[in-house]
Amino acid sequence: MTNDETVLECAELVRHFPVKGSDKVVQAVNDVSLTFGAGETVALVGESGSGKTTVGRMILGLLAPTSGRIVYQGTALDEMDRRQRRDYRAGVQAVFQDPYDSLDPRRPVLASVREPLRRLELEESSRDGTQRAMAALEAVGLAGITAKTRPHDLSGSACQRVGIARALVTRPRFIVLDEPTSALSPIARAEVMRSLHDVQQSTGVSYLFITHDLAVVESLAHRVAVMYLGRVVEAAASGDVFGRRLHPYTEALLGSVLFPDPDRLDGFGVLRGEIPSPIDLPPGCAFASRCAIAGDDCRTAVPPLIDDAVAGHHVACIRQRTRSRDRQLTSTLRKETP
Ligand SMILES: Nc1ncnc2c1ncn2[C@@H]1O[C@H](COP(=O)(O)OP(=O)(O)OP(=O)(O)O)[C@@H](O)[C@H]1O
Ligand code: SF4
Ligand SMILES: [Mg+2]
Repeated sequence: MTNDETVLECAELVRHFPVKGSDKVVQAVNDVSLTFGAGETVALVGESGSGKTTVGRMILGLLAPTSGRIVYQGTALDEMDRRQRRDYRAGVQAVFQDPYDSLDPRRPVLASVREPLRRLELEESSRDGTQRAMAALEAVGLAGITAKTRPHDLSGSACQRVGIARALVTRPRFIVLDEPTSALSPIARAEVMRSLHDVQQSTGVSYLFITHDLAVVESLAHRVAVMYLGRVVEAAASGDVFGRRLHPYTEALLGSVLFPDPDRLDGFGVLRGEIPSPIDLPPGCAFASRCAIAGDDCRTAVPPLIDDAVAGHHVACIRQRTRSRDRQLTSTLRKETP
């Protein structure tokens, strides 16, 4: 369920962290722009340290951008009045990685789910708060929870679904999911993914889905943005990123995941070489030290994220057009070979 309405937008986001005792900075996020339609899931993928959580924390208002803008329902965060800020705090929620960590073990889960309503003064009465918390738990398949149930009474999947219910209770329009399935068993992971899908279908909420788990991305994400050292290097509809993978980094990243892909070229499947430090980024393309097709021309300027021939497929690689043509040729030759 997606439509043309933009719920949230990040424009040219930058976040640098000062390095203690030095005038250098960690360039965690550089020039990231993302747009989220109503009911849309955008997955943010990339190796550890690429800046995914930092983007999520800026969207949640937990971290101020060094520069750039976050716009929620048409208003920039730093231009919101009191009422708009309250709507934003209710409307943008989060689910984090460890379900047990994010719930107070001594507290009944019903009270934890109700907590955001109390904090934001959104409940009309105690009864209203309890009813809304129960409805949120029901939406994630946990109608059986009572006022006495505590986190240790629940499985990993149920606990993470409590976390989703707590995010849902304020009726948000946008949820940041930061590795919501990484700490779970495969069965629990499937249950949580189904729950996230069902919730989106019934409420029209949008997700930023941050994950290492590339195998589950396609089942939830409408679009995928691939990050490398603070920058988005490829972004497109989910099927296009997985099927065409125009950036050598995407190719290598996805090379370790088994997908049926007749167009896949050999030679890019393994990530070699050292990741540069985000404190001393090299000039030009940050992926050059690990890229099998890098040349001197890659080391002069940062490649811009530009639209490929397929509308909405953006790639930051100076050779992507050549590679795109090579792929088409290979694909045609395969089809023509008897
Ligand atoms: N508070 C901070 N102070 C200094 N550096 C930070 C801070 N938070 C993050 N960083 C650095 O910013 C970069 C991006 O970190 P971030 O946590 O956003 O990456 P990530 O893609 O979420 O990684 P992971 O997949 O491991 O969760 C890393 O180099 C990290 O060390
Ligand atoms: S710009 Fe050059 S180094 Fe960077 S990904 Fe493209 S080919 Fe590789
Ligand atoms: Mg992270």
